[in-house]
Amino acid sequence: MSALLKVENIDAFYGDFQAVQQASFEVDEKKIVSVIGTNGAGKTTLMKVIGGTLAARGGKVWFADRDITGWPTYKIVELGLSQVPEGGKVFARMSVMENLIMGSYTPRARSGAKASLERVYELFPMLKEKAGQAAGSLSGGQRQMVAIGRALMSNPRLICFDEISLGLAPTVIKDIYARIRQLNAEGITIVLVEQDVKRSLKTCETAYIMLKGKVVLSGKSKDLTEDTVSKAYFGM
Ligand SMILES: Nc1ncnc2c1ncn2[C@@H]1O[C@H](COP(=O)(O)OP(=O)(O)O)[C@@H](O)[C@H]1O
Ligand SMILES: [Mg+2]
Repeated sequence: MSALLKVENIDAFYGDFQAVQQASFEVDEKKIVSVIGTNGAGKTTLMKVIGGTLAARGGKVWFADRDITGWPTYKIVELGLSQVPEGGKVFARMSVMENLIMGSYTPRARSGAKASLERVYELFPMLKEKAGQAAGSLSGGQRQMVAIGRALMSNPRLICFDEISLGLAPTVIKDIYARIRQLNAEGITIVLVEQDVKRSLKTCETAYIMLKGKVVLSGKSKDLTEDTVSKAYFGM
């Protein structure tokens, strides 16, 4: 069986600056794969290319046996690939529920929107309690839950989480990671972008380490030691 997501030799630029260089990785269905790297390694840039918000200058992205390179975001989401972008971005003035409903605009999601909303409320009961409240009034962790909920509303086969734990308290991080593992157990394929080597290795089956725009090391997490990964991570 071929991989659900396959990223091949991606080159991505901001003007003349090359932020991602020949990056490749792949994710089999129902797995958790980590992309690990320090600040500025090119992780978010790579996620933007996958999600269709930044055009690559070279390389290909395959999802569900389709070449989605250069596709607009709405078509990529319609195919079942969703993002929880860095920083837990929500529509601050809209209510929690309105934010969630925003995630179900594609034909793929629309008919099941009601069931999806129930599922999100089951996963994060707090969101049901605060359904009518402006999303901007929530804490950082709660906003991340809204962002995860919004991605789930699109009925995704795969979700990319870009530094979901950034700036959150350890207990909140633990809780969110437990929910991510639960979603994976329910059949959703996960790409976990992280700076935290230890936490990523603990959660994923396969890890890719990025440094200065390149994938410098990859392997099954059980075969990678924290020491080898840390050395690649810091370029030592
Ligand atoms: N909008 C942008 N314009 C110019 N340079 C950018 C932009 N976004 C990111 N970069 C640069 O691209 C490199 C990779 O950034 P990014 O993909 O955000 O890394 P990461 O997510 O791993 O921290 C960094 O050197 C960063 O400064
Ligand atoms: Mg980033």
